[in-house]
Amino acid sequence: MLPEIKRIRKYKEKFIRSVDRFGTPQYILVVNELKKRIKLINQFKKRYPSMDIYYHYKTNCLPFICKLMHKSNIYADVSSLFELKLALKLKAKKIIFNGPGKTRKELNLAISNSDKVIINVDNYEELKEIIKISREKRKKVSIGLRLYIKSNDIGWSKFGIKPEKINNILKFLEKEKNIDFQGFHFHIGTEIKNPSIYKNTLKKLRKVINNLNDEERKKIKFINVGGGFGVDGYYRYNIINKIFNRESKLYRNKPIDEFIKTITDSFKKYILSIENINSPTLILEPGRWLVSPCMYLLTRVLYKKGDSVILDSGINICMPLLYEYHPMINLSSISNERKKCILFGSALLHVGILGKYYYGDVLEKNDILCIINMGAYMETLSWQFSKPLSRIIALSDNKIKEIKKEEDFDYRFGRDI
Ligand SMILES: Cc1ncc(COP(=O)(O)O)c(C=O)c1O
Repeated sequence: MLPEIKRIRKYKEKFIRSVDRFGTPQYILVVNELKKRIKLINQFKKRYPSMDIYYHYKTNCLPFICKLMHKSNIYADVSSLFELKLALKLKAKKIIFNGPGKTRKELNLAISNSDKVIINVDNYEELKEIIKISREKRKKVSIGLRLYIKSNDIGWSKFGIKPEKINNILKFLEKEKNIDFQGFHFHIGTEIKNPSIYKNTLKKLRKVINNLNDEERKKIKFINVGGGFGVDGYYRYNIINKIFNRESKLYRNKPIDEFIKTITDSFKKYILSIENINSPTLILEPGRWLVSPCMYLLTRVLYKKGDSVILDSGINICMPLLYEYHPMINLSSISNERKKCILFGSALLHVGILGKYYYGDVLEKNDILCIINMGAYMETLSWQFSKPLSRIIALSDNKIKEIKKEEDFDYRFGRDI
């Protein structure tokens, strides 16, 4: 039996209770699963005691989740004004501000809080803007430089500074007393399946650092390797996955231990061995790995229509289902058997197919379908469209409570003038 189905069997009664109480569609967060993952990732600090973990807010910035992270010494990695405001409101002890298009408003707030915010600079023009604001505010600003490490995907050239430009930038910064250069950042992708990519990138970073002078090397207080660790139990629709027929087997990613082992071993080998470097802090910025498996979408069959069914979730609340396959389980009659069926969403949009398979007995009107691994980039990528944004429920032990209300009429039209 798939471990995913076993898990759902365990939660079945509680999930049904939550549906009866709050209705559908609903996202449900299993708090104990999240706590387990937080504990596990924190344990890896033993491998290199000077390790800091920052949770990437954009993955799922429910205040409930972010608070839990901060309570467990996982800090905030933000990439917009709202996320920065939220991290400040939730009193995150340390904040990293990432992103290629930081506005003046965002930089103003980050620099006003420069005692706890590190800005990872994306490009030279942004650096000049930071310098201007730091002078106006007479504030010292801690910065990292995001490196553009070449990958095959054209889109990634959007982020970071080319390694060959680093020496000039650091030279330029020598006379800027307000700017405290503290280290390097890279983030090489998401859903990464092979940890050796981190090793290769750290090897490239070694070259960059070897090209710096002693003074510059001594300034390095952190190396930030970003996030990107892949998780089990779902995959993207693409030709390779089709060839390997992964819909029937379900993809299993390498365990997180292997990622952390490769990163810490390579960090020691390629970075700590550099002459005149002062044991920098190793920073991780996980998003998906922390939250993806902890949240489920519960949705009801509204109607049966020939070989298909119409569910009460619109594709607007689970957009990645357009390009990711997530296992779906008929909560009303769970079984190991996989059935083919077009699962249409409720929004009046022709692309709204949520899936083509589910596990369980034949779906009937009013059955509840549970979609798994829905904690990452689902709620934050939801878009305001015809059907409402979803409510979110938290399940802790035996307690269920609503942590986000379903979008209502006033929320939808309240901004219209
Ligand atoms: C700079 C940065 N750090 C961390 C992350 C988190 O990545 P993941 O959710 O794949 O762990 C992202 C995701 O886009 C990112 O852009």
